[in-house]
Amino acid sequence: MQKAWFYEEYGPKEVLKFGDFPLPTPQHNELLVQVRAAALNPIDVKRRQRPIFPSDFPVVPGCDMAGVVIGKGGSVTEFVAGDEVYGNIQDFNAKGRLEQLGTLAEFVTVEDRLVARKPKNLSFEEAASLPLAVQTAIEGFKTAHFKEGQSIFVVGGAGGVGTLVVQLAKQLYKASYVVSTTSTPKVDFVKQLGADKVFDYTKIKYEDIEEKYDFLYDTIGDCKNSVVVAKDNGAIVDITWPPSHFRAVYSSLTVSGDSLEKLNPYLESGKLKAVIDPTGPYKFDEVIEAFRYLETGRARGKVVISIPLSVDLPLPVPSVCNNNDKIRNGF
Ligand SMILES: NC(=O)c1ccc[n+]([C@@H]2O[C@H](COP(=O)([O-])OP(=O)(O)OC[C@H]3O[C@@H](n4cnc5c(N)ncnc54)[C@H](OP(=O)(O)O)[C@@H]3O)[C@@H](O)[C@H]2O)c1
Repeated sequence: MQKAWFYEEYGPKEVLKFGDFPLPTPQHNELLVQVRAAALNPIDVKRRQRPIFPSDFPVVPGCDMAGVVIGKGGSVTEFVAGDEVYGNIQDFNAKGRLEQLGTLAEFVTVEDRLVARKPKNLSFEEAASLPLAVQTAIEGFKTAHFKEGQSIFVVGGAGGVGTLVVQLAKQLYKASYVVSTTSTPKVDFVKQLGADKVFDYTKIKYEDIEEKYDFLYDTIGDCKNSVVVAKDNGAIVDITWPPSHFRAVYSSLTVSGDSLEKLNPYLESGKLKAVIDPTGPYKFDEVIEAFRYLETGRARGKVVISIPLSVDLPLPVPSVCNNNDKIRNGF
């Protein structure tokens, strides 16, 4: 058995319970990963609150993880037991249902195409903080057809996605000018991520900002107001649904291990940094407190959970399994 967080009804964070689940078994194209760290995302909250993605109960929440491969299906060739990997295990673009058994568990199965090798210089916590947010951040630049040398205005530069958008704009996409917004205590923090200028949104309104930008990247769903900083022909991307202005294009993440693999050189060189909210990493038994904090909407980077190694687990588990009786949950 393993320990996992789960819920059996929609509702507030108090519906979360902690209990025993059987170990899942990897199918032919899947890895069995011992999860060492997981990260929370707003989608974990929304999915718990209402039935936006179909799945049966109980649901183990969590998309992001970093851990160690301890088993695999017969058609997996890229990874072997002992590899340290990270990824977002929930493929939102795939037809069908999301995984019922998410990453707030000691063990998880994941399709091999969804994970990448963990950069060696990153802790499990740092690696777990990245996948969903960075996949989202990248997709926004693609949606906008962003070109090197253009200017960008990032609404919400201190959040899980925003911290990565600001860094990617500077380091990967070579924006000429990176501007962002945040509240007073986080202005210096967002500057340190690489923003050339940071506006304190408690002190200035969008309409008082004179410069106009090639790309307005809104991570908080405020396009109906922020639209005024975009050039007349500028791209506007909103990652919240539905976008609050008709000019804004909704952008949703593409989940893949390849996208992470391509980022690994930037992570290994330190050009791109994982940003863990300083209230964490939270312990595995502090998941409800971690959700409480995420749900304040004030996170600075990512809310991360450390998952300890259990000493009494029946390891090693079988490394190859091709049968169809995969355990999706413990009930
Ligand atoms: N489309 C997709 O594929 C996709 C993927 C990931 C996330 N999302 C969505 O994108 C949104 C952001 O996700 P996230 O993970 O970045 O959330 P998050 O980490 O919880 O965002 C928190 C941040 O938002 C900032 N913020 C709140 N109000 C602000 C304002 N008026 N102006 C500037 N910053 C403000 C906060 O900074 P202050 O404390 O300074 O206000 C805080 O740092 C969520 O709605 C999420 O569901 C969509």
